[in-house]
Amino acid sequence: MTKGVRGTRDFYPEDMRIRNWLFDNFQSAARSHGFEEYDSSVLEHEELYTRKQGEEITQQLYNFEDKGGRKVALRPEMTPSLARMVMARAGALPTPIKWFSIPQCWRYERTQRGRGREHYQWNVDIWGSDAIQADAELLSVLVSFFEGVGLNADDLVIRISSRKVLEEVLGSLGISGDAFAATCIIVDKMDKLPAEAVEQQLSEQGLDSDAIAAIQSTLGLSDLDSLASALGEGSEAVAELATLFDLVDAYGIADWVAFDASVVRGLAYYTGPVFEAHDRAGKLRAICGGGRYDRLLSSLGGNDMPATGFGFGDMVIMELLNEKGLVPDLPSGNQDIVIAINEDLRSAAMSVATKLRASGRQVDLVLEDKRMKWAFRHAERTGAQRLVMVMPDEWAAGNVRIKELESGEESDVALSDL
Ligand code: HAM
Repeated sequence: MTKGVRGTRDFYPEDMRIRNWLFDNFQSAARSHGFEEYDSSVLEHEELYTRKQGEEITQQLYNFEDKGGRKVALRPEMTPSLARMVMARAGALPTPIKWFSIPQCWRYERTQRGRGREHYQWNVDIWGSDAIQADAELLSVLVSFFEGVGLNADDLVIRISSRKVLEEVLGSLGISGDAFAATCIIVDKMDKLPAEAVEQQLSEQGLDSDAIAAIQSTLGLSDLDSLASALGEGSEAVAELATLFDLVDAYGIADWVAFDASVVRGLAYYTGPVFEAHDRAGKLRAICGGGRYDRLLSSLGGNDMPATGFGFGDMVIMELLNEKGLVPDLPSGNQDIVIAINEDLRSAAMSVATKLRASGRQVDLVLEDKRMKWAFRHAERTGAQRLVMVMPDEWAAGNVRIKELESGEESDVALSDL
């Protein structure tokens, strides 16, 4: 039994260093935009996810009955938990609420490149603002992360559309409400399923072949002018997207984004702008995805509050960063290795380590009787900066011998100067 459960990962220290590096970058992009961190339990009420519009996510639930007979699930996404938390304090939280989190999420998926059964998903959300400025701010958070890890606009693109595009097309065909959400879920599968299968599902929603053709031609649009002529004057979707792209210009991040009507997203609750980032080479699954969801709370029995946000998994981005050679070589973090040259000096070495630790150094004290040669190799392997040797004559004179590992320089340092 050396293997974990299928689709789950172990993080050895060298993996953990990289994960922490990634999370640090997630955190600083969010914090630089004034977001605060929150968290909740990975175990949730199953009913938070029993939406009826045929989303994949609700069919991939890790759910079970606990020993008290409660129906619970491991969260497949953070948004419903966040909604629950916001709803619990509705009215008491100053708006806009700008929060981020990096929860582990669970989905019983077919495992493949960039997809596991658990993943960590950076979530950044703004609640209580219906202004398109909030959506633009999220795009700025994203770009700030991408730049932070060394990616540029040639590596990936954030494709943007709005649920209102399909809403206008389908509204004119008399499809709204739950049927609209269900249709979006089907339309989102257009590039994943065979055309006949999608058409079959759409016709089950009551769409005839003319309607399907109308949807397909709209989804093929990739510039706002053609969208404007397709949707006609007074289209709210066009006006909203035009404003969003103006704001993107103002942020100076226009190179990173593109309008693409085929972005619909596979979750039922989106109501406005939606977006997904993809590698430009088109080799990987979506890097991240999000959008506006102004009516989630009423579907959970509360009063609606406008909201917008995104989820960003830790797996696809690592594929891309590895491919681009952007994952840094990270040392263990040890700064000093302290070693006693013989058994008699062991307690002296302990006091040296304690002193260095108290001054804020990260110190690995050699606990066993090891040779110098081992200590050098150990220092090299862990990327330590200094080897601190406790030696008889030096110790008698109140000193330790310090070797700077990069330069190879050695010097005796008085204990009081450590
Ligand atoms: P989602 O598109 O289902 O959206 O997931 C968002 C991101 O999480 C994906 O783009 C991908 O990076 C990552 N992800 C999802 N499933 C897996 C998986 N099985 N393995 C690896 N990575 C995965 C949501 O979950 C929305 N709740 C996001 C959101 C937040 N919308 C508004 N606020």
